[in-house]
Amino acid sequence: MCGIVGYLGTAPAAPVLIDGLEKLEYRGYDSAGIALMSEGKLAVVRRKGRVAELAFARTMQGDLGIGHTRWATHGAPCERNAHPHRCGKICLVHNGIIENAASLRAACEARGEAFSSDTDSEVAAHLIDGLYRKEGDLLRAVKGAAGQLVGSYAFAVLAEGERQIVCARMHSPLIVAEGADGVFAASDLAAVQAEGRTAYVLEDGDFARLTDGGVELFDGALSPVAREAVPLGCEEPAPDAGAFRHFMRKEIDEVPQAVQNSIPDLSKPEFSDLCKVLCQTQYLHIVACGTAYHSGLCMKHAAELFARVPTQVSIASEYRYADPIVPPRTLTIAVSQSGETADTLAAAQLAKEKGSRLLAVTNVAHSSLTRLADFVLPTHAGREVGVAATKSFNAQLAVLYALAARLALARGRRAPTLAGLPTLAEETLVRCGRIGAWTPYFQGARSVFFLGRGADRCAALEGSLKLKEISYLPSEGYAAGELKHGTLALVDNATPVVALACDRALADKTMNAVHEVYARGAPVFLVTPFEELYHAREVTASVLLPRCEPAFSPILSVIPLQLLAYHVSLALGRDPDKPRNLAKSVTVE
Ligand code: M6R
Repeated sequence: MCGIVGYLGTAPAAPVLIDGLEKLEYRGYDSAGIALMSEGKLAVVRRKGRVAELAFARTMQGDLGIGHTRWATHGAPCERNAHPHRCGKICLVHNGIIENAASLRAACEARGEAFSSDTDSEVAAHLIDGLYRKEGDLLRAVKGAAGQLVGSYAFAVLAEGERQIVCARMHSPLIVAEGADGVFAASDLAAVQAEGRTAYVLEDGDFARLTDGGVELFDGALSPVAREAVPLGCEEPAPDAGAFRHFMRKEIDEVPQAVQNSIPDLSKPEFSDLCKVLCQTQYLHIVACGTAYHSGLCMKHAAELFARVPTQVSIASEYRYADPIVPPRTLTIAVSQSGETADTLAAAQLAKEKGSRLLAVTNVAHSSLTRLADFVLPTHAGREVGVAATKSFNAQLAVLYALAARLALARGRRAPTLAGLPTLAEETLVRCGRIGAWTPYFQGARSVFFLGRGADRCAALEGSLKLKEISYLPSEGYAAGELKHGTLALVDNATPVVALACDRALADKTMNAVHEVYARGAPVFLVTPFEELYHAREVTASVLLPRCEPAFSPILSVIPLQLLAYHVSLALGRDPDKPRNLAKSVTVE
């Protein structure tokens, strides 16, 4: 992933770059660095860890520079692998993965070139340096090097002594912008804070040159090209955790609002084209990753139950290489909070190539996914800062369940209402006040199971992902009925089990699994809307949810699981907002 920034203008560059990097930390926080040019001379500073480690560099001289916050792909997260990378007069920052780096590096080394890092990115610096020495033209050198690279990249490149930044984009997001006091490059609009700004989104294969004269855009043949300007002032104000200790906790609190804001009114004229397609749709294919994949699983359950539309849910990284069968009248739904997940974008692109219409469900209005899609149903969760997805999951469910209901209506079937869900989510939060008391059972756990059947199983998968990503506890979401077919062997008194029983038709069957694990000493925690189960004797603790349409219950039942993960993370001394090894936006394969 990684985040990159560049600035050239009249203001001191260091604070602009560091402030920008702080906004991009959601893309990775293994190391950070900036390069500044002052009186034609380059100075590079890099640190392992977070952008805050660069605070000392705020006063560095220079009104031209580039910066980077890293999510390690090639090479350990340490200072020598931190960007910017330098070779001769060339200095660059890179977001992406260069897949043929090993062979390119071997060729450079065979020519006697020495490398100072283990990264794929340094290879690009060497290639550009070689071409720049020959041609003396930075833009052409970057283009020449880009032509040799396989993989993904967003580059911002400096040449010592030259007052320009050259950028290139291939499968990694990159915007450039003109403001009153300079020109900018960044992985994301949020990193550019400039009065009177116009921003342009580069397309794959594009190059850009930033100078005191402004921004010039070029296509892959270096012919000048115009790209659509992003509307100004469309980004949200800088997020603030307010009275909360962590963004994640605040974002869980915002679930009811996110659900309320996201339920679309599909009877509005703006959705009439989409609704026409829904009427003709015979198959739904959903492609997504991580939490968004789990919301896809929840949607499958609802769409098949209410609308009887066969629905296939695929992990995007599998779908993209599986040569999927896409029958006529398939609607593909790509679900992605960020709208920038590389695997989801590739899967969505493939579905389109195979003749499917594409519907994007995303939280980011100007994302790559919205540009690719035929239709967009936005989630209005608001900016989500915590790396662990919380309110965006509930917001995705609000959109997808509304779609399932609309599909059902189009087929003359019962279409359940979502109207009460925001209030029920509020009530759920109130009822979850004592979830923190469950944490002692998890602190010493060897592993954790989340069990459920039907829609409960989908929520169990998401609860398990939440716990493992922010507590680092091994955890599995499992079909309650499947446990006895082998996995039960793992259960003992150091294996807490969280069971979900939100569908009365399946609850007693799930309780069989509860009895089986309880009998083997496991502490059992139950999430249910049914009083009689809430008071069951063979559970360690329970939370009583308000009742809702069973197929929609994950929108509520995930809330105690999000809170549980948060409290366990804190109890184990982790940082729930920035768990190790992860990043909010996964723009590499
Ligand atoms: O931005 P996306 O929704 O496409 O991201 C997909 C996953 O990377 C994301 O949901 C990830 O699994 C979260 N960290 C889960 O909390």
